[in-house]
Amino acid sequence: MLRRPRRNRKSESVRKLVRENLLTANDLVMPLFLVDGENKKEDIPSLPMAQRYSIDTMLEEIEDCISWGLHAFIVFPKIDDALKDKTASHALDKSSFYLEAARKIKSRFPQITLISDVALDPYNSDGHDGIVQDGVIVNDATLKVLEQMAVLQAEAGFDIIGPSDMMDGRIEAIRQALDLADFHDVSIMSYTAKYASAFYGPFRDALNSAPVEDSSIPSHKKSYQMDPANSREALIEAELDTIEGADFLMVKPAIHYLDIIAHINDEFELPVVAYHVSGECAMLWAACQNGWLDYKTAIPETLLSIKRAGAKLIISYYAKEYLKLQAK
Ligand code: PBG
Repeated sequence: MLRRPRRNRKSESVRKLVRENLLTANDLVMPLFLVDGENKKEDIPSLPMAQRYSIDTMLEEIEDCISWGLHAFIVFPKIDDALKDKTASHALDKSSFYLEAARKIKSRFPQITLISDVALDPYNSDGHDGIVQDGVIVNDATLKVLEQMAVLQAEAGFDIIGPSDMMDGRIEAIRQALDLADFHDVSIMSYTAKYASAFYGPFRDALNSAPVEDSSIPSHKKSYQMDPANSREALIEAELDTIEGADFLMVKPAIHYLDIIAHINDEFELPVVAYHVSGECAMLWAACQNGWLDYKTAIPETLLSIKRAGAKLIISYYAKEYLKLQAK
């Protein structure tokens, strides 16, 4: 035998020398759930590795994450049902606890990268990412709200705006609105290829943001999020986002869409972000909890596979846990 591939696997030292991919804190973004109030740390039964924080406890959590090397955070608000309405008006309330939290986070930790969420579902009494009229999630009227949300978030100090709504034309609309308000340096991380996935369940539990049960309103998001059967339209979305001024292209979910990550990374120059979503993290947790998988090795392997597929950045509820496991 002239070729023996096992020679390059013969010791940990040699394996390290030939290792192609390394996952560090610079590749990770920590998602955090924010709830109004004080001194809160609420468990989320379907997402046991995450919690909902009020701003005071969130600042402590961010400090702890920073001590593990993390420096990028994406924050999602859980809005009280009483504040939700058909037009998602609380999304445009300058004094909302979400925007107030951003001001506090950035004044305490100016060095970090803070990423927002732009979509109407946490604020909308219909539980959709856009405005619903006569049972239809309307595109262009939604853009008007998204633009204003983005500008308010930039004013509050977010470094990167994260449109997760999948409306057509939103990157251009947001880019223009930001530029008009002189926020040229505020970036856009577009949820480029966001699929209508079953794996968002625990996230919707965390925010109580699922589409409402009402026969006049679609119970799913398939008219704006992508069909899991398709890959070609991910390239259309990536092309449009690139032309419209996105700074990052996201694929979501991650593990079930590694082919899409690879495809977009091959075809486009912008950094690719993968969102290792709530349901993907929850199933891993459940299997490890049952002793069916080994936590210490399953978590790093999962995250590394996303990086190997071509993601530069990974948003995962396991971001801090991964770094803790590496330190052991
Ligand atoms: C909604 C949004 C969702 C997620 C991020 N932003 C859920 C949805 O589209 O219903 C899911 C993230 C996760 O599951 O971790 N704009």
